[in-house]
Amino acid sequence: MEAELSVSPMTAIGVPSAASHMMISALSKRGAMVRAIDEHTITDAVIDQMSSTGNERLKEIMEAAVRHLHAFAREVNLAPDEWIQGIRFLTATGLACTQYRQEFILLSDTLGLSSLVNSLNDRRTIEESTKSSLLGPFYRQDSPTFELGQSIAENCPGEEIGVYGRVIGADGRDIAHASIEVWQPDENGFYDLQKQDPSEMELRGRFYSDQTGRYRFRTIKPRGYKIPMDGPVGDMVRAQGRHGWRPAHIHFLVGAPGYREAITALYMADDEHIDSDTVFGANESLITEPRGNDPESPFGSLPSIHFDFKLAAVGTGASGRVGADPSQIVKRAEA
Ligand code: BEZ
Ligand code: FE
Repeated sequence: MEAELSVSPMTAIGVPSAASHMMISALSKRGAMVRAIDEHTITDAVIDQMSSTGNERLKEIMEAAVRHLHAFAREVNLAPDEWIQGIRFLTATGLACTQYRQEFILLSDTLGLSSLVNSLNDRRTIEESTKSSLLGPFYRQDSPTFELGQSIAENCPGEEIGVYGRVIGADGRDIAHASIEVWQPDENGFYDLQKQDPSEMELRGRFYSDQTGRYRFRTIKPRGYKIPMDGPVGDMVRAQGRHGWRPAHIHFLVGAPGYREAITALYMADDEHIDSDTVFGANESLITEPRGNDPESPFGSLPSIHFDFKLAAVGTGASGRVGADPSQIVKRAEA
C-alpha cells in the first residue's frame, strides 16, 4: 500500500517545489510508514527527524545549516569525488589544530565568516563603539602585565614606535583602569605562538589605563605578514590564486567592568595589502599610522600612533570574541 505526504516548499534556497515532487511513502514489513528518500525529499526528511531537538536555538541553527548545505550541494551538483575531497580537506583542517594552532578559525577567517559574525555582533551593541576586528588565532589570555609606557618589544629588533590614547565610554567619559591587551607579530611577521618554543611570550602584554582613562606603551612598527600557509587553509588560498597577506596591524582587546569588551586591531595605512586583507579584518575606521610630529605624543619625537578606544555599555549580548586562545579550546575539547 502507498500513501502520499506533502512537503513544505523551500524554493528560496533552491529546493524543488512541493507541487512537482510529493514524498511517496510505503509500509515497511513492521507496518511503519517508510518515506521515499531522493534528492527532492531528503531535506525535509532530515529536518523532520531533527524536529525533536529540545533546544530551540540549536534547532533553528541546525535546520538552517541543513537547508543551506543541501541547497549548496544541489547548486553545484556535487559529485562523490568532490564530496570526499571536501571531507579530506575538513579532516586535514582538524588534524592541523594543536594547542597552539587553530586551523578551523583560520578557515572561518579566510572565508569571511569571522568578519561577518563580527559585523552581526557589532549591530547588537546598545551604544556607539570602536569597530571590531578579528581576534585571530594568536591571542592568548595569559599575557604579562606591563606598567604604562613600557615596551612589549624588549629585545625585539624593529623600528620603535609609541602607541597612546584614551579609553572612553560612548558619552566620551574616561574609563579608568580599563584592561588593554595587545599582541602583534615580530618584524618577520611571526607571532610568538608560531615559534620554536611557543610557551615563551614576546610582543604581547596587558596594560591598565590610568585614572584619566589614558594608556601608552612602546612597541615596534608592525609589518604585514602572510597567514599560516603551511596547512590545508594555505593550500586552499593558493588554489584560489589569493596572495595570503594580512596588512600590518596591532591587535587590541580592551575591557572594563560594565562595558562590552572591544576586540579590534589598528591597521597601518601604508601597507600595500590594506585593501585586500586575506581575512577581511581591515576596516576603514581602524586605519592609522605612526606620526613623528605629534605634539600631543607622550613619547616626544618617537613616531606615535594615537587612537582612542570607545566602549559601549554592556548590553544583553554575550562576548564578542570571534576567535579564541587555541590552548583554551584544546583544554575544553579534552575535558
Ligand atoms: C591575525 O591577525 O592574527 C590573524 C587573523 C586571522 C588569520 C590569521 C591571522
Ligand atoms: Fe594579527
